[in-house]
Amino acid sequence: EESKKVILVEDPSLPKATRSKLEGLAALRGKRVRVFGWVHRLRQQKDMTFIVLRDGTGFLQCILAGKCAQTYDALMLTTESTVELVGTVQAVPEGKTAPGGHELIVDYWHTLGAAPGGDDAFTNKFNEHSDPSVLADLRHLTLRGETAAAVLHVRAGVLSAFRATYAKHSLTEVTPPCMVQTQVEGGSTLFEFNYYGEKAYLTQSSQLYLETCLPSLGDVFCIQESFRAEKSLTRRHLSEYTHLEAELAFINFDDLMTHIESIICETIDLLLADPRMAELIQTLNPGFKPPKRPFMRLDYKDAIKYLNEHGIQRPDEETGEIGDHVIGDDIAEAAERQMTDQLGVPIFLNKFPKEIKAFYMKKVPGDPGFTESVDLLMPGVGEIVGGSMRIADMQELLEGYKREGIDPAPYYWFTDQRKYGTCEHGGYGLGVERFLAWLTKRFTVRECSLYPRWMGRATP
Ligand code: 4AD
Repeated sequence: EESKKVILVEDPSLPKATRSKLEGLAALRGKRVRVFGWVHRLRQQKDMTFIVLRDGTGFLQCILAGKCAQTYDALMLTTESTVELVGTVQAVPEGKTAPGGHELIVDYWHTLGAAPGGDDAFTNKFNEHSDPSVLADLRHLTLRGETAAAVLHVRAGVLSAFRATYAKHSLTEVTPPCMVQTQVEGGSTLFEFNYYGEKAYLTQSSQLYLETCLPSLGDVFCIQESFRAEKSLTRRHLSEYTHLEAELAFINFDDLMTHIESIICETIDLLLADPRMAELIQTLNPGFKPPKRPFMRLDYKDAIKYLNEHGIQRPDEETGEIGDHVIGDDIAEAAERQMTDQLGVPIFLNKFPKEIKAFYMKKVPGDPGFTESVDLLMPGVGEIVGGSMRIADMQELLEGYKREGIDPAPYYWFTDQRKYGTCEHGGYGLGVERFLAWLTKRFTVRECSLYPRWMGRATP
C-alpha cells in the first residue's frame, strides 16, 4: 500500500525544538517544541489525525496533517501508546477551545511504545459501568483517567500545603516507625505480624511517638501510614491510610481546637491560592467554598440531645431495636453523618465519655466521666479528625492502662514522658483520604488513595 511507504524525517532546516513538559507550553507559543507523552484521546479522519496528548502535567491537542498522518505509525496508532511529537505551539483559532488554549501543529513525530489494539486495547479494558472489583483490579490503569489523576494531584498539593502551614506554626516534621510493639487505639483493629519471632504490630497511630518528641523538638507533626484491621466495609474505612498527626506542648483544650481549625483553614487558603489547585478542586467539587471560622463546637451531651430531638435514633446492639440515644453511647457512623449533614457545617464534637475513648485521654476538670476529646465532623464525610488532651499526671496514666487492661511494661518509654518533666499537651490525627474525600467531593476514601487497601484487597 502506498501510504505505508511514507517515511518521516525531521527537517534539519527548521528552528531547533525546545523540549518541554505540557504545563510549560504557554510560555512557548509560536515556538517549535518537542514533547513526550501518552495518547490520551485519538481521532482519525481521512488525512488528519487528532491526538490529545497527556504527560501528567497537562493535556495538549496535537494536529497531524499531510505526511504526518500517512506514516505506518499514524495508521497503527492506538490510545495509550507513547509518542514523541515535534511541532509549533499555536493559540487555538477564535471560537475553538483546547486544554491550555493552544494546540501543536506537528511537523515530525513517531511512536515510542505502541499499545495494543483490538480486544486487548486500553479502551476495551473497562468503562464506568465495569464491576467495582474489576475497576479495583485495574487500578494501575484507571489511574490514567482524568478524575483519578486530578484527585491525586490535589492529594499532592494538600500534603505540601499542610507541610507549609505546619512550618508557619513552628511544628517540626518527624518520621516515626510503622513497626511497633504497642497499641494506641484498641486491640481489635491491630494488624499483628512476626518480628524475628516476637509479636509486633503495624502502627495504628504515631501519637505516642510524637509525644516523646515534645521535650526534644517542641511541637511536632508527621505524615505516616497508619493501619487498621477494620472488619467492616464502609466508604470511609481503609486498612492502610495516610495519617497526618500533630502534638503540641503547653496548651489547653481550647488551644487545641483553635489550632486544628487554623491548620485546616490556612491549608485550604494556601491551596486555593495556587491557580492549578483551585481549578482542579472546582472541577472535582464545583462550587466549593472554604469553611467559615470559627467552627461550631458541640458538646457530646448536647449532641445526644440533638439526636433525640431530631429523631435520629440508634439500633440497640443486642436486640437491634431502634431507640433513643443515651449519654454514654458511642454515636454510630450513620447517626453522626445524619446530624452533620443536617447542620451542614464543620463541627467540633467534643468531650466524649471516658468509657468509649482511649486510655491516654485527659478527663474534663470537674466532670471526670468525660474526656477532653474532640472529633471534627465534616458534611458529606463525617469524622475527619480525632484528637484530645493527654493525661499529664503519671499516676492517672497508670490507672488508664489498668482500666483498659493494658500491660504497662511495653509502654515504659511512654510512661517516662510523665516522669521526666511532664506538661499539659494534646494532639490529633487527620485522615488524609477523608479530608480529600470532603475537599474533592468523592463518594469514598478509596478514590483518594493511590492503591487503596480494605478488607480483602491488597492488590495491585
Ligand atoms: O480517631 P483516631 O482513631 O485517632 C487516633 O488514632 C489518635 N491517636 C490520633 C492522634 O490523636 N494523634 O484516628 C484519627 C483519624 C480519624 O479521624 C480518621 O480521619 C482517620 O484517622 N481514620 C481512618 N481513615 C481511614 N480509614 C480508617 N480505617 C481510619 N481510621 C481512622
